[in-house]
Amino acid sequence: MNKGKRLVLTGFMGVGKSSVGRHLAHILHAERIDLDFFIEKNEKRKISDIIDMDGEAAYRTIESANLRKLLNEHDAQVISLGGGTWIVEANRELIKNKGLTSIWLESTFEHCWYNIKSSHKERPLARNKEKAKKLFEDRKKIYCLADWHFIIKPEYSSYDIAKLIHDEYFL
Ligand code: S3P
Repeated sequence: MNKGKRLVLTGFMGVGKSSVGRHLAHILHAERIDLDFFIEKNEKRKISDIIDMDGEAAYRTIESANLRKLLNEHDAQVISLGGGTWIVEANRELIKNKGLTSIWLESTFEHCWYNIKSSHKERPLARNKEKAKKLFEDRKKIYCLADWHFIIKPEYSSYDIAKLIHDEYFL
């Protein structure tokens, strides 16, 4: 097993980046960091408050600064990004330059939307189904710049996905 490999999980809101990251880190006995959680801890504010009060552009600046801080200060093997982190070119460059592999968790909009609706997480950019669907379609062409694509089948649990990624990538 290659213990030196590090990866980021990207993909749309609700696709399961956090739960897959948690299972994967558990399987690997490795450290995992969730960027959204890291931002809220560092900024001492909820992401939804930052976006609602300061706007999305201001949030993206904060998000990029926190991504840089995280990658400079931590060597966690598994990092779950926020759904928009990978969309910013400078973030993609930083991730590549730091030598991390990016994995796009790809699923259908309906699957993501179902998870968004069933979760307690406040997502200001997914309050309206039509707008979220548009964002989903617009972002696909950027998510697909990731090094790897992992297509999620409906029957997979987050553990299954983590195990499959582990077996393909780490064994
Ligand atoms: C966002 C996704 C969220 C969070 C913020 C913005 C996005 O993370 O970072 O609300 O732009 O897609 P999740 O993908 O974990 O929901």
